[in-house]
Amino acid sequence: MEELVSVILAAGLGKRMKSKYPKVVHKVCGKPMVKWVVEAAQEAGSKEVIVVVGHGREMVEEVLGDEVKYAYQKVQLGTGHAVMMAEEFLPLEGMVLILTGDTPLITSDTLRKLVEYHISEGNDVTILSSIFDDPAGYGRIIRDESGNVVKIVEEKDASEEEKRVKEINSGMYVVDIAKLRAALKEITNDNAQGEYYLTDAVEIIRNMGGKIGALAGESEEIIGVNSRVQLSVAEKVMRRRINEKHMENGVTIIDPDSTYIDAEVEIGRDTVILPGTILQGKSKIGEDCEIGPSSRIVDSTIGNGCNVMYSVVLSSSVGNNVKIGPFAHIRPESVIKNNVKIGDFVEIKKSVIDEGSKVPHLTYVGDAELGKNVNMGCGSITVNYDGKQKHKTIIGDNVFVGCNVNLVAPVKIGNNAYIAAGSTITEDVPEGALAIARSRQTNKEGWVEERIKKGRL
Ligand code: UD1
Ligand code: CA
Repeated sequence: MEELVSVILAAGLGKRMKSKYPKVVHKVCGKPMVKWVVEAAQEAGSKEVIVVVGHGREMVEEVLGDEVKYAYQKVQLGTGHAVMMAEEFLPLEGMVLILTGDTPLITSDTLRKLVEYHISEGNDVTILSSIFDDPAGYGRIIRDESGNVVKIVEEKDASEEEKRVKEINSGMYVVDIAKLRAALKEITNDNAQGEYYLTDAVEIIRNMGGKIGALAGESEEIIGVNSRVQLSVAEKVMRRRINEKHMENGVTIIDPDSTYIDAEVEIGRDTVILPGTILQGKSKIGEDCEIGPSSRIVDSTIGNGCNVMYSVVLSSSVGNNVKIGPFAHIRPESVIKNNVKIGDFVEIKKSVIDEGSKVPHLTYVGDAELGKNVNMGCGSITVNYDGKQKHKTIIGDNVFVGCNVNLVAPVKIGNNAYIAAGSTITEDVPEGALAIARSRQTNKEGWVEERIKKGRL
């Protein structure tokens, strides 16, 4: 196969998004739209990808990094003008795949087929087309009596008869580079929008004696995102694709319609995802887990055999056979090791919980290190903040912390120590000691009766 380069048009603002950010950086299943397109082009065999940037170029360049080259279109004078800006990066001959940054659903399979068709037909231009019941807003493909493609006409320039055509231009093409260069010289902005239309290159190349073809693609892949409503449509299609990929790989998803998994999430075999679950960012879930219902896991690693129920896990790492929830909040930079139990209404923040420890209910652990097999009683908390600074709590192995204990940091509890329920611990506790820090109980016998006699109760 000839060398393939791609040009992706992404300089427009996307007014209809009503956004302060450029349209193509809006995300679909956690990945910026333009990134989906770049990856599809690369997977289709494109060695070089040139992205035409303009509006919000810094943001587009930030999401794509240095894997692509950038052409700069200072003012957006149309799609033809955008390709002119990329011309200097193109080889002298060969073919170029031209794409737009706002069609995140395009697949590498379809692009590969488009390129193969272009080559096998010996075309100079091959348009990826589709038949839309409602073609409004798209450029129409106009054919002559014998069915040959003659030109593309934009809706705003179309006659009533042309507007009735349901065969639309996806805005994606393979074009012979030498012919493209010649055509770009002849494109004018003499049309309804006063723009340099790339679509005019079709008629120009045909008039030069070039061969034009069109290949129909799945309408679903061609949907352009111009508004937030269309963004949600794209998100829904992509979500379905992602969920199906996981199910094909051996993950059970009880209700795909209420399961939201970002593009880069990995999930091991025989894990079951229950409804209302949102897995985001670069999260990685092991095998044989049960995640959900209604859990949110962001940029976190979860080991094998874990259970996360009605809980939130953010930027943290969780070992094997860990139970979390219901209603737990694991905040960033926490490390939960194997066989730990984090129960209901527990918040863990920037802490390490070592193997076999239990934090079963109503507890706050912040800026702490818990050893192995620690038991945190119900309502026990680390008092990590003095109003100005955060301090550390260090708890050794096999420590038993009774219910309703305050551990006022900085404080250290030695291995095997016990802390009596209701204690407020302000000093270190030595290994193997029992610490009690509460006033003794006194029982005043007959107190109620006395009061009643005095008429005060
Ligand atoms: C374009 C096609 C239309 C096709 C439709 C498919 C033209 C003239 N029309 O129309 O036939 O049916 O796509 O979605 O090409 N862009 C730039 N610089 C510019 C103008 C646009 O980089 O000066 C980029 C935009 O950021 C966008 C893409 O090109 O990613 C398409 O531009 P847009 O204005 O959305 O074109 P459409 O009107 O949708
Ligand atoms: Ca568009």
